[in-house]
Amino acid sequence: MRYTSQHFLKMKQQGKNIAVLTAYDASFASLMEKAGVEIILVGDSLGMVVQGNDSTIPVTIEDMIYHTQCVSRQTDKVLIMADLPFATTYNPEICYHNAARLLAEGGAQMVKIEGGAIMLETVGFLAQRSIPVCAHLGLLPQSVYRLGGYQVQGKSEQDAQQILEDALAMEAIGADMILLECVPADLAKKITQSVTVPVIGIGAGKDCDAQVLVSYDMLGMSLNGSPSFSHNFLADQTNSSSEVSIEKAFKAYVNSVKNREFPN
Ligand code: KIV
Repeated sequence: MRYTSQHFLKMKQQGKNIAVLTAYDASFASLMEKAGVEIILVGDSLGMVVQGNDSTIPVTIEDMIYHTQCVSRQTDKVLIMADLPFATTYNPEICYHNAARLLAEGGAQMVKIEGGAIMLETVGFLAQRSIPVCAHLGLLPQSVYRLGGYQVQGKSEQDAQQILEDALAMEAIGADMILLECVPADLAKKITQSVTVPVIGIGAGKDCDAQVLVSYDMLGMSLNGSPSFSHNFLADQTNSSSEVSIEKAFKAYVNSVKNREFPN
């Protein structure tokens, strides 16, 4: 039986940190599971790191189903969270149809939706129909053309308040998890303490319940370099006398998250 939301809720209550990484294929996913990763995010970041696009916008639902299938075939414990890509969430019914495909055809157990207040009705619609949802707040890569780049969000008091209110509203309407991307650490801490569901952070400081990184970033193999909040866990092994391996990098990441050494 795979991990479910209930398992992660209990981990949060017990103060245990959750290790999350992105994967898009069977080999990486299998190594991650062996290394102790508990949630694999099949992120639409695949549009950049796998497909070579300069944003996540071109990723289709068919792409997401294909890569989610690849990840689900060689894992049996991790919870698989799959991204709903650009323009697949624009009304509750369409979003439900696409989310159901990620679960039924792809093998995901949870979907992730980008957006705050505007996505509330949709998140509620899915939750009421037994589709587990993670609400992605803060920096929304699918909105890059409006944002004009990948900058930290929630820096002003007003923006921070909006993100906090969105997180509370998402929990109230039925979201099973919240993901915060690129927000100030003190805001992420406040949100993590204010909601009962687990909060996954990326570039959001050390006080979230879970940490996620794009696997290609933490292996130092992303096409355009890695964001400053990431860390190269493969390069850490270069001074070691034993063999360098990707599996060891995943294990080092899991240990660092569990021991609250990453992010530092
Ligand atoms: O697509 C992705 O990999 C993501 C992470 C950046 C959180 O959404």
